Amino acid sequence: APVETFDYLVFGGTGDLALRKLLPALYLRDKAGQITAESRVMAISRSQLDLAEYKAKAEEALRRHLHVDEFDEATWERFGARLDYVAADATSTHGWDELQTHLSGRDDVVRVFYLATSPELFGPISERLQAFGLVTEKSRVVLEKPIGRDLESAKRINDEVGSVFAEEQIYRIDHYLGKETVQNLLALRFANSLFEPVWDAGHVDHVQITVAETVGVEGRGGYYDNSGALRDMVQNHLMQLLCLVGMEPPVSLDQEAVRDEKIKVLRSLKPIGVENIAACTVRGQYRAGAVNGAAVGSYAEEAGASSGGKPSNTETFVALKVEIENWRWSGVPFYLRTGKRMPAKVSEIVIQFRQVPHSIFPRGAGEITPNLLVVRLQPDESIRLNLMAKDPGPGGMRLREASLNLSFAETFKSRFPDAYERLLMDVVRGNPTLFMRRDEVEAAWRWTESILDAWAARGDTVKPYIAGTWGPSQSVALIERDGRTWHDDA
Ligand code: BG6
Repeated sequence: APVETFDYLVFGGTGDLALRKLLPALYLRDKAGQITAESRVMAISRSQLDLAEYKAKAEEALRRHLHVDEFDEATWERFGARLDYVAADATSTHGWDELQTHLSGRDDVVRVFYLATSPELFGPISERLQAFGLVTEKSRVVLEKPIGRDLESAKRINDEVGSVFAEEQIYRIDHYLGKETVQNLLALRFANSLFEPVWDAGHVDHVQITVAETVGVEGRGGYYDNSGALRDMVQNHLMQLLCLVGMEPPVSLDQEAVRDEKIKVLRSLKPIGVENIAACTVRGQYRAGAVNGAAVGSYAEEAGASSGGKPSNTETFVALKVEIENWRWSGVPFYLRTGKRMPAKVSEIVIQFRQVPHSIFPRGAGEITPNLLVVRLQPDESIRLNLMAKDPGPGGMRLREASLNLSFAETFKSRFPDAYERLLMDVVRGNPTLFMRRDEVEAAWRWTESILDAWAARGDTVKPYIAGTWGPSQSVALIERDGRTWHDDA
């Protein structure tokens, strides 16, 4: 059924995120019949474009980013007719009267301000929205990550936006929470009785979370060079995954219940500071190499080209050893890594269980490898359990690893909506469960910031890795020091 009639106002409407993710997501919801005839989508940015030019841009982006069978003329005609464009500048009053005119008479529909801009503009845009009387009773604001670049700036931005919008109106998006398999973690853990009893330090040896990408910094050098992998991926996406794996059972799926449990995990993280930074972190930056057989340039070249300046000591890869200091997880390391220009695009959570306490098998039966539960978030969403089995045949007892594999595509045979499709509609519905609360974002920054400070204090320099590999050798050493290895089975 369609959601309530809305006006979606996308600030940063000509940016990468809007064109690559937001417009395709709204288009697909339109195609699915979820958008009422009266709803509109308005892009706002500084570029002096007229509506026809913006539409051309939007159409090109949709054709490029949607699958061939998703784009069709009929939906485009309907969706294109909803589009509107206003050139306005967040840092001046230019264009805001026009925006006001475009919205007049629409106070009774749900109004979403999606701020897909630099976080520095979240405050100024909110203030102008208020000054021009555009914030209605039915308004909501969506803040893209990253919110700030450290704890202090995050607090300031939250204060600025908070002086215009009430906390219930603020949706801090982390699109990883909209991914099907991420939500599936909740189903796996709390709709099955099998796993929860072994989901603790008594049974789990360690956890690995990998979010690997094949892309480089693309045209985003200007943003990325000031950010780096820790701020871009760890502070938000990886922390959220860690929370969902590590949290205690919430009492319900209620928004506050889930977020209360997640923040407890953030508060129990063992701090990483100057004393343990060398043992617990590795930063890397890609050099020229090849990904999937295609030659690619170095980070310095790519970021230099799009940031205009000379690229710095920014990390494009980070590996961390993290500990959750509470009763459930004491002594169980969580190894996290994420990077650009890796051999494959794959996001995976691996729970490695403890070795059997004693082997009854003869030496010749082969090694017993520990059980693994592998939750693959993308691509090819699946949940796999690696078990030991007897190798068939009369030749005596030989052990071999085999797996139970739940492939979501094969099992459910339905289309997997993109994370943004779900989340953009949740905002219209007024459901913030899969969004981050202010205290969560700030707790994640508090922990992340001490890593940034320790790197700076030690004058840490990035370790090189060749594009198309799994990161610097120091990342392998980080986990092998503990007698463990990364599961690179992408
Ligand atoms: C974004 C980061 O939040 O997530 C990007 O800013 C990154 O650098 C992207 O490429 C990865 O998202 P996904 O959904 O492709 O895994």
